[in-house]
Amino acid sequence: MKFGIVEPYGNKKDLGRYEVTKNDADKFVFKVPSLRNITRTYPYFHDGAVWDLKEAVRIMGTTQLGMELRDDEVDKITTFLDSLTGVILHDALVLPVLPPSTPNTPKPAL
Ligand code: HEM
Repeated sequence: MKFGIVEPYGNKKDLGRYEVTKNDADKFVFKVPSLRNITRTYPYFHDGAVWDLKEAVRIMGTTQLGMELRDDEVDKITTFLDSLTGVILHDALVLPVLPPSTPNTPKPAL
């Protein structure tokens, strides 16, 4: 799905699926990740730039829905997202080593 349906996402360096297809309609199209175990699978988004789930939810509100979510709404949504926590696969607990094309990403402490 396009990331930035209503408002663009701050980091515009990665053009998403467009990088592969060169089709304008694929600009900023990224895989929508599973939300299972989302409280444990930070950092968030394709560039791993967001480490706080509440911040990720707020960004979804503005970029995808054109809504400034209130604090109580963000709290309720993250409480719901926490209910999706189950068995955590080992791979999901290992911080990803991202390619050098994403220089804004803090280095994971391995
Ligand atoms: C309040 C509603 C929403 C919530 C709470 C929400 C939550 C999230 C969260 C937590 C992530 C980060 C997942 C991760 O990195 O592991 C995410 C990513 C994403 N969501 Fe949403 N989302 C919402 C609405 C939407 C809508 C309406 C769309 C599209 C129509 C959408 C498309 C995406 C896409 C494409 C990504 C991946 C972005 C990237 O990797 O850079 N989301 N969402």
